Amino acid sequence: MIGVFDSGFGGLTILRKFQEILPQYDYIFVGDNARAPYGSRSYETVYAYTLQAVRRLFDMGCPLVILACNTASAKALRSIQQNDLPKIDPTNRVLGIIRPTAEVIDRYTRTKHVGILGTQGTVDSQSYIIEIQKLYPHITVHQQACPMLAALVENGEISNPGTDYFVKKYYDALLSQSPSIDAVVLGCTHYPLLIESFEKASAGSPVSFVQQNEIVAHSLADYLVRHPEMESRLSKGGHTLYYTTDTPQTFDRTAAVFLGKEVRSERILF
Ligand code: DGL
Repeated sequence: MIGVFDSGFGGLTILRKFQEILPQYDYIFVGDNARAPYGSRSYETVYAYTLQAVRRLFDMGCPLVILACNTASAKALRSIQQNDLPKIDPTNRVLGIIRPTAEVIDRYTRTKHVGILGTQGTVDSQSYIIEIQKLYPHITVHQQACPMLAALVENGEISNPGTDYFVKKYYDALLSQSPSIDAVVLGCTHYPLLIESFEKASAGSPVSFVQQNEIVAHSLADYLVRHPEMESRLSKGGHTLYYTTDTPQTFDRTAAVFLGKEVRSERILF
């Protein structure tokens, strides 16, 4: 199976696209809702929590784990790949979602000024700046942390004036860094749920929002074509199992909004 991990519900925006574009595979989704949001947590904490989830997904039969979380990709991926994977099982793989987004960003911008909205952890890690500038040194990257947004989404506050207020506040703070920004990456997997608020905030400006789900799903499809040794290890039944570290009933209610269908999760303890 393919393991998909997020601090909470956000990774479901990525999983939904996997299920659409790669429906033949089996998936296990784990949301660490009991400890979400991760965005303001330290490097050590995000690394420790993410490693627990990855180990668990390996034990459950996932040789390939996608960190469907920018914060975990920014703060834990490199350490897991370099320090832990060789000891746990060097044939397994853990992939993140920042690199695939950076790889295609050039197509989304004409002005070559890109904005990143993400958690405090993602922004402080500078991962987007580092990855984009490695590939496209001519692109200038501007960033803005949005500390309230993942928590609002985790709590189901998806469409109301309070949420609109914070979305506009962060969006305006980003755009005030440069009037040339023409592409804004929703660099947290929770934010696509707030797309209507973002569109209201940007009304009248020629800015486009870059959502990661499509990008990451195509990148996974491409990875599986390039890595037949991994592809052949994956089961193909079109099923998904859902796990949460918090209350399954609460997870199921909110997950239905993210996935557009009913699901039944089980509780998991690391
Ligand atoms: N969804 C996560 C991300 O993409 C993190 C949200 C959080 O837990 O703060 O960054």
